[in-house]
Amino acid sequence: MKNTIISPSILAADFANLQRDIELINNSEAEWFHIDVMDGVFVPNISFGMPVIKSIAQHAKKPLDVHLMIVDPDRYIKTFAQLGANVLTVHYEACTHLHRTLQAIKNEGMQAGVAINPHTNVTLLEDTIKDIDLVCVMSVNPGFGGQSFIENTYKKVRQLRQIIEANNASTKIEIDGGVTDKNAKQLVDAGADVLVAGSYVFGSSDPTRTIKELKNLVQS
Ligand code: DX5
Ligand code: ZN
Repeated sequence: MKNTIISPSILAADFANLQRDIELINNSEAEWFHIDVMDGVFVPNISFGMPVIKSIAQHAKKPLDVHLMIVDPDRYIKTFAQLGANVLTVHYEACTHLHRTLQAIKNEGMQAGVAINPHTNVTLLEDTIKDIDLVCVMSVNPGFGGQSFIENTYKKVRQLRQIIEANNASTKIEIDGGVTDKNAKQLVDAGADVLVAGSYVFGSSDPTRTIKELKNLVQS
């Protein structure tokens, strides 16, 4: 049976109790830490930057899945490698030379991810799919946690899965935004490999149990 990766989004953690929430993920069934970096330009919000990520990395015992919602991400590829990012995801809409950016990420020893906004057609990735380790399909407009899931995402995931298979690529599909117990199974059935969940996990009364339940739901 395929293993679905759960990547809780730290954006929804309690920043005044960050170490507690990191330990919670360390001791849970989640596989990755999803880390949202927002610059207030590419998206209408600012999240956190390098000093905070450095502190997260010191405590996190699982891979760091860093999602850059910033313009011109090439400027910081080396910095994120030094900070300990394992997967570095840039936005398709923020890269003029996407192919070059992907090579630069891999040259720093990280897995290269590409995120696509809800309006971006998956077929635009056909010519780079073999070079992409992970496609992050945005199921909300990036910038904020706690938004509602966009239903058109299922169609995009199915189309993307076909492109990956037609090219014999090993690219993972990640879903980011509004993931809950209501859509998780359907997303995995459509072809998703990684589920990001922020407010659904950290907004629940028992995040560890919520992660476990999400995991059980998609494995069944
Ligand atoms: C949105 C971020 C998401 C967000 C998900 O811009 O990229 O990772 O934290 O949060 P939820 O799960 O609350 O939609
Ligand atoms: Zn994200």
